[in-house]
Amino acid sequence: MSTARGEFSSRFGFLMAATGSAVGLGNIWGFPTNAASNGGAAFLFTYLILAFVLAYPALMAELIIGRHAKANAVTALSGLASTPGTARIGAGVGFAGMVTVTLILSFYAIVSGWMLAFMTASIADIARLETASNWLTQSGTVRDALFTLIFYVLTIYIVVAGVRNGIEKWSSRLMPSLYLILIALIIYVLTLDGAMDGLRMYLVPDFSRVADPELILSAMGQAFFSLSLGVGTMLIYGSYVSKKENLPAIGGMVTLMDISVAVLAGLLILPAMTVAQLNGIEIYDAQGGLIAGPALIISVLPALFDQMGDAGILVAVAFFTLMSIASLTSSISMLEVPVSYFVEDRGVSRRKAGVLLGAATATVSLIIVWNFGLLFDWVVRLTTEFSQPLLGFFFAVFAGWVWNRNALLAEIKQGHAEAESGLFWRIWPWYIKFVCPLIILAVYIQMIF
Ligand code: PFF
Repeated sequence: MSTARGEFSSRFGFLMAATGSAVGLGNIWGFPTNAASNGGAAFLFTYLILAFVLAYPALMAELIIGRHAKANAVTALSGLASTPGTARIGAGVGFAGMVTVTLILSFYAIVSGWMLAFMTASIADIARLETASNWLTQSGTVRDALFTLIFYVLTIYIVVAGVRNGIEKWSSRLMPSLYLILIALIIYVLTLDGAMDGLRMYLVPDFSRVADPELILSAMGQAFFSLSLGVGTMLIYGSYVSKKENLPAIGGMVTLMDISVAVLAGLLILPAMTVAQLNGIEIYDAQGGLIAGPALIISVLPALFDQMGDAGILVAVAFFTLMSIASLTSSISMLEVPVSYFVEDRGVSRRKAGVLLGAATATVSLIIVWNFGLLFDWVVRLTTEFSQPLLGFFFAVFAGWVWNRNALLAEIKQGHAEAESGLFWRIWPWYIKFVCPLIILAVYIQMIF
């Protein structure tokens, strides 16, 4: 059934791939505006706590299950069960993850297409091709469809090339560039007039908001989306990690790197917004909240870049390249989830699986493009606020309750022989058994009431 499975060639390769998956649009447009609208550093504080008490343990559950099973989520979860009924539930969770991640990719690719369109537009600006640039920056279904499809071609190309020659190679090239561009942009924006107001908005805490259910819900959603949890992405990446690696340590590094990009993005986006405001650009929406999400990236910031003259063109190229890289290293991890299943369990070749599944998901994206007002927000909310945490709940239950504790310890001990006496083993099993499922349930119940 299966040929030799892919494996990351080095720890660096895994770290770049997993961080590449985690660091995406979510970090750059989601985190900073969420923070600024929800009590500044108070949100940062809640987010950091949730990232460590909830998202890191959940990430570890996926990585450990994946490396143990050396298989996709469907096979891996059903393999942990000792009764046929539980095995069926495991397979069902794996399938639900596959559907969810495909839907996430279907909206993500549209936004990523905008990033490519704006990047191309800023290159057209350098070449003084004004008409082309205007077309590229004006929303329209033809432009959206075209650039969404280009984005799929890039994603499919990398996934079809395989774990080492595609995912690892491109993540290892792109992620260091992402860090460099991000830091260069922060340094530049912080020198501009008005930037300090943004810093203040971001970093001065309003602690009265810390216990706000709304804040906790959005911090949880943000943490799950940002670490690519609940849909089998981290499980499949974990399955490509060598048995020699110390998983709790490398999972911790991925969490830290993801958080650090989110925190750094805040140092770029919020100062950029207040600089824009000083230049007469509207940064609040009709309800008085900060403009967030796609509108921030494709209206507020481009308006700022436009006012910056020639320097603005270069900043725009850098910024939209940053966004395109962040999107691509995430989208490849999404497509890998169904591809790995069809390659391993259905005996389909990687090329065929990549092309056909990519084309099928692209068709869903095109349906959303043509029914944008009706479908886009609905798909985003359904997948990120509802499915992801719910599936995360099941992953935690499988790691904490279904899987045999000795087998679990034996897996962690590979690459970390003294694990049993370490801090991770003393705390994590309790977390994944009780704390993670209960927090997720509590947040859901709070949401309903
Ligand atoms: N973590 C990505 C981001 O923050 O943009 C989004 C994501 C990637 C979600 C991969 C789910 C996934 F499977």
